[in-house]
Amino acid sequence: MSGFGGAFAGRRVLLTGHTGFKGSWLSRWLLDLGAEVTGYALEPDTTPSLFEDLRLTDALDSRIGDVRDARAVEDVVSEVRPEVVLHLAAQPLVRRSYAEPRYTFETNVMGTVNVLEAVRRCDDTRVVVNVTTDKVYENQETGVPFAEDDALGGWDPYSASKAASEVVTSSYRRSFLSGESGAVVASARAGNVIGGGDWASDRLVPDCARALSAGKPVLVRNPASVRPWQHVLDPLSGYLHLAASLLVNPELAGAFNFGPGASSDAKVAEVVELFVREWGGGTWEAPLSDGQPHEAGVLRLDIDKAGRTLGWRPVWDLGETVRRTARWYRRYGERHRPDELVAEDLDAYRAAAQDAAVPWTT
Ligand SMILES: NC(=O)c1ccc[n+]([C@@H]2O[C@H](COP(=O)([O-])OP(=O)(O)OC[C@H]3O[C@@H](n4cnc5c(N)ncnc54)[C@H](O)[C@@H]3O)[C@@H](O)[C@H]2O)c1
Repeated sequence: MSGFGGAFAGRRVLLTGHTGFKGSWLSRWLLDLGAEVTGYALEPDTTPSLFEDLRLTDALDSRIGDVRDARAVEDVVSEVRPEVVLHLAAQPLVRRSYAEPRYTFETNVMGTVNVLEAVRRCDDTRVVVNVTTDKVYENQETGVPFAEDDALGGWDPYSASKAASEVVTSSYRRSFLSGESGAVVASARAGNVIGGGDWASDRLVPDCARALSAGKPVLVRNPASVRPWQHVLDPLSGYLHLAASLLVNPELAGAFNFGPGASSDAKVAEVVELFVREWGGGTWEAPLSDGQPHEAGVLRLDIDKAGRTLGWRPVWDLGETVRRTARWYRRYGERHRPDELVAEDLDAYRAAAQDAAVPWTT
């Protein structure tokens, strides 16, 4: 399978967080590209689990471990000697971060330190991409899209921990991983990601799929919040394109936003409406929001830098993203094979990217 200039064929790639939602899609894509993938993460913690549904344990070198365990991370890196490291392992849920702030900071901040420390001692690693989020910016709720140079910050522990992970990344880039000898490190900030196979609790699309399959109304916490929605394959194409570009041009290392086009910024309520329509029926309601922890009201990403510097751009708009996602869950409920559902979306995405002449398709 071609793409990314053949950068991943036969390449040793360490993917942390491979047992999660994005990690499972990315494992599948990297395997299609011919990469030798080692995964490092905790056991899948959702039922169902996309990782288990895709039988990825049989397809890649899957290691179960904790990123807070510096010794274990170092052992895997020194044994596997990855040329590319994609760091996705994190505690990624805002509401859980309010319940478990210490765990969230330890995983998201010290986990990043542990990965970068291990890489610093590995002569074979050339590129590290640390996956953070659109929530790393100090959000004054002006509605203006965030650019990479904007101030970092974070109200809830999840956002703050990811902003701190960005500061760690920047420090390691300037102090140790400048590319002069050894690896370079970049960070990737994606928007609100949806797509088939996410079964996390307290996330909009899994909540929609669970409620609608049970014939219940979807309970929506913050219908008026605006987010930059994107299909999971859009930011994953950004992570892969960034890593492939850095192998050739290490001086490009820095922070990159990989959000959707501006027309995909939409209210939570609009996404639920679209999802219900694509599902073929159902209702939603917003329970009284008293006592809910704070979550940002408006979040938008400026993606000029990724376009200008890397030639990257998103492929699917909001309509296609929700259509594909709702269809995935509906067909999963009708007992279609999840590996076929993932393969169909990957093929359709790659074909759409090719039609749009997106540079990574060559
Ligand atoms: N889903 C989104 O909307 C979104 C948006 C922007 C950024 N992100 C980022 O993308 C990455 C992947 O998110 P996801 O949506 O796939 O989440 P997920 O919860 O589905 O997966 C998280 C992965 O991290 C692993 N992990 C968690 N704690 C760990 C620990 N202590 N040690 C080792 N592994 C651990 C899990 O085992 C799992 O493999 C995260 O870094 C997240 O912050 C997600």
